[in-house]
Amino acid sequence: MILPVITEGNPILRQRGTEVADVSDPKIQALIDDMIETMYAKDGVGLAAPQVSASLQIAVIVADPEKFEDCRNTGREPLIIINPQITSHSFFQKSGEEGCLSVPTICGLVRRWKSITVTYLDRNGAKHKLRAKNLMARVIQHEIDHLNGILFIDKADKLFNIKPL
Ligand code: CO
Repeated sequence: MILPVITEGNPILRQRGTEVADVSDPKIQALIDDMIETMYAKDGVGLAAPQVSASLQIAVIVADPEKFEDCRNTGREPLIIINPQITSHSFFQKSGEEGCLSVPTICGLVRRWKSITVTYLDRNGAKHKLRAKNLMARVIQHEIDHLNGILFIDKADKLFNIKPL
């Protein structure tokens, strides 16, 4: 089911998501499926649960965790991160352009850690440790910010208006 994506101004986006206690809960599994479907339908590179009004520590990212290839091309399952935590990061940051389904008319330049190590649970409850760099690291940091009530516009050095098509 495609879920409505809420936009900036909605207080849910500003709350810290709750940790998922039981990954196997059918409601959590259904939410993950719906989040993936919604991300694909809205053409996002990532989607965090608060964006679909679920204040939980879950995000999906349209790249598989091994090769970081776009799952829309490979048909593989996207990266699903539950209760993620950045455990270490590079010394350097890198500036890059970002946008967000919840801030549809603005994009901006945001500094992010160039590489990160993140721990998370997958949808089977298994614990993983992933090292990501460049664009993948950027998307993961953007999504984890959502889980903490932070939007990219809070951190951007420069913001640009996007004209709707
Ligand atoms: Co976003």
